[in-house]
Amino acid sequence: MERTFVMVKPDGVQRNLVGEVIRRFEAKGFTLVGLKMMKVSRELAEQHYDVHRERPFFGSLVEFICSAPVVAMVWEGDGVVASARKLIGATNPLTSEPGTIRGDFGVSIGRNLIHGSDAIETAQREISLWFAPEELVSWEPAN
Ligand code: CMP
Repeated sequence: MERTFVMVKPDGVQRNLVGEVIRRFEAKGFTLVGLKMMKVSRELAEQHYDVHRERPFFGSLVEFICSAPVVAMVWEGDGVVASARKLIGATNPLTSEPGTIRGDFGVSIGRNLIHGSDAIETAQREISLWFAPEELVSWEPAN
């Protein structure tokens, strides 16, 4: 079954949006199989954002992700990687559609509340970076 990695970033946690994010993913019909709140180490943040290492915002992005707790999650379901990206909305909240998480709650690209894996291979890499296998729980939803 397909899985994706989702992280409520420090700004999302500080704005009390953790429940709202979980509610939207549950309401859509996806299954939560991993969940933890954590303060992110610089090493993990740099590994997670490795593809952006040469970008001018890399340093401030890593600093921001390490600045306060995040909530890391793994969601499961058919097509969950692409669907999660739609629920989350475009990277820049100023242009994300209303009805998406970023479109409804954000205005700043550097404070865009939430991260979701951009492809199936990325999801696999990010899940194994953030979660040990024993932290993931497989279970059958009621229907
Ligand atoms: P995310 O989906 O977590 O993936 C990369 C992140 O880099 C992105 O969300 C933004 O938070 C951040 N980002 C992208 N572009 C910029 C930018 N121009 N300035 C600051 N942060 C950015």
